[in-house]
Amino acid sequence: MNFAEECWSKLDTKLSRTAVSSYDKLPYTTQNGVHNDMMKKNKSWWTNGFWPALMVLMYAGTKKEQYLKTARHGMELLDSALYTYNGLHHDVGFMWNISAGADYRITGDQEERNRFMIAANHMMGRFNCDGEFFRAWNGDNTEGWAIIDCMMNIPLLYRATEETGDPRFAMAAIKHADKTMKYHVRPDGSCNHINEYNHITGEFIKAHTGQGVAPNSSWSRGQAWGLYGFALSYRYTKKPEYLATAKRIAHYFIANVQSTGWLSLCDFRQPSEPVIYDSTAAACAACGLLEIERLVPECERKIYYDAAVNILKTLNERCCDWSHDEDSILQLGTGAYNSEIHIPIIYGDYFFAEGIYRLMGFDAGMLW
Ligand code: GLY
Repeated sequence: MNFAEECWSKLDTKLSRTAVSSYDKLPYTTQNGVHNDMMKKNKSWWTNGFWPALMVLMYAGTKKEQYLKTARHGMELLDSALYTYNGLHHDVGFMWNISAGADYRITGDQEERNRFMIAANHMMGRFNCDGEFFRAWNGDNTEGWAIIDCMMNIPLLYRATEETGDPRFAMAAIKHADKTMKYHVRPDGSCNHINEYNHITGEFIKAHTGQGVAPNSSWSRGQAWGLYGFALSYRYTKKPEYLATAKRIAHYFIANVQSTGWLSLCDFRQPSEPVIYDSTAAACAACGLLEIERLVPECERKIYYDAAVNILKTLNERCCDWSHDEDSILQLGTGAYNSEIHIPIIYGDYFFAEGIYRLMGFDAGMLW
């Protein structure tokens, strides 16, 4: 067995069990090795779609019915968030595009279509028409805030246009991507996390510290969101500047992880001590690198493919727990520089599995 086959087999062995034991949960992390249920704490939490998304991905790669059953049940649990306006936010793409949306694209299920189209329409309501950006989060005095993460939410809108033939969704997504490219991505390929714009005129005001160290630092998961997000915007629009931007962020990301043995720090510009890693950033970036690899001419592919394989091999060797004593797979995830350090987080498992799924040569076109 080659590396991808070996990991895919280990994923299937482990997830076949948790697909049953965690059937009634939407996990975020684990406690004493057991998946917690984030629905009990916060039903609108932005990561609550990753468990059903992981189940859909495993179904796509194995065609085992249990995965689809667990995914569909997870989507039903998540409906209470979909139908509660209070609590919904910009992360509806993460929550419903790769879960319900991917399920619909594979199976044609109309209930799943309904969910992903409701999510897309909610997202549209967050567009600042004059400012040309999607607002992040809720609450007072943050009406002008936009974040690099949202590049991973807007594929929901490209899909909604594809699905309905109505160009409005993609038009808004393109405006947001253009503004993000101009004000979040720096000349060296690093990215701001949070930008504040004047919410009436859209004028750029300043960057804020988010989950990294400082406004001018380089939160690694944010870099991964940008890398993968611009690659996806290129996939749908074919605007060459999006691919060039994805490649610029990718080259910056590769240079940084190469210098730390292919495992990403939480912030590429963090102080030398303490050493805080974030395995989830590397896993997400690996998927983005494999997406870029699909999009560039043959002669350019090797650098992206090799970097993705190096990252995934390192994650397998240094971060994966394949035992049955622990429900999660990828360890050493970090929520933010100041909190949730070195824990398993569900999107780490999702992106690691997506990376292996891609290396297996399964259809990645229906995922995001
Ligand atoms: N989108 C929030 C995060 O990456 O933690």
